[in-house]
Amino acid sequence: MQLVLERCTIRPWRLDDAESLAKHANNRKVWIALRDLFPHPYTIQDAHDFLRRTISERPTTLFCIDVDSGAVGGIGVRVGHDVHRHTAELGYWLGERFWGQGIMSEAVGAFTNFCFNNFPLRRVYAEPFANNPASARVLEKAGFVFEGRLRHNVMKDGKLLDSLLYASTK
Ligand SMILES: CC(C)(COP(=O)(O)OP(=O)(O)OC[C@H]1O[C@@H](n2cnc3c(N)ncnc32)[C@H](O)[C@@H]1OP(=O)(O)O)[C@@H](O)C(=O)NCCC(=O)NCCS
Repeated sequence: MQLVLERCTIRPWRLDDAESLAKHANNRKVWIALRDLFPHPYTIQDAHDFLRRTISERPTTLFCIDVDSGAVGGIGVRVGHDVHRHTAELGYWLGERFWGQGIMSEAVGAFTNFCFNNFPLRRVYAEPFANNPASARVLEKAGFVFEGRLRHNVMKDGKLLDSLLYASTK
């Protein structure tokens, strides 16, 4: 799979992405918006471990955001189980030096379409923390609908936060 877009390419991760991945992922401003599963500091060993794990997974659901032949971010879905098997949670991040160029708005829209066309999904949702208006805006621009505020849903960096539920349905 390769989605060649105007501002970036979405492609499978490769083992040789480790250096670039660690460089862009090792940023507190990225970590603060993500699950604690995303390491901080993000070492080269973390990058190797992630790539080894991800590359062998089938179906492939986690992808690299590539700008000018460099791995500078990630986007992926986690498909639900049981009664939620037609639902997936979307996650994404981008290296700080690429923020504000419209890259993720374009990527989220195209990737969501790809997911609806390639997986048996009827719903893709995301839950940005309420203190992340840029991510909420990305979802709105990609056509996601705001469904509600999940109060006290997240404990991040010692702070109890609300999160915002956005979804796109087919
Ligand atoms: C959030 C993130 C993905 C945005 O990516 P990006 O490529 O910079 O986003 P885009 O440039 O496509 O769009 C950002 C939009 O948010 C807006 N925005 C940025 N900061 C904002 C703020 N503080 N308040 C309101 N809107 C804001 C921008 O103006 C832009 O909207 P516009 O085009 O209408 O002007 C990126 O900053 C990131 O990776 N952050 C860390 C990880 C993260 O938050 N992941 C998502 C977890 S749910």
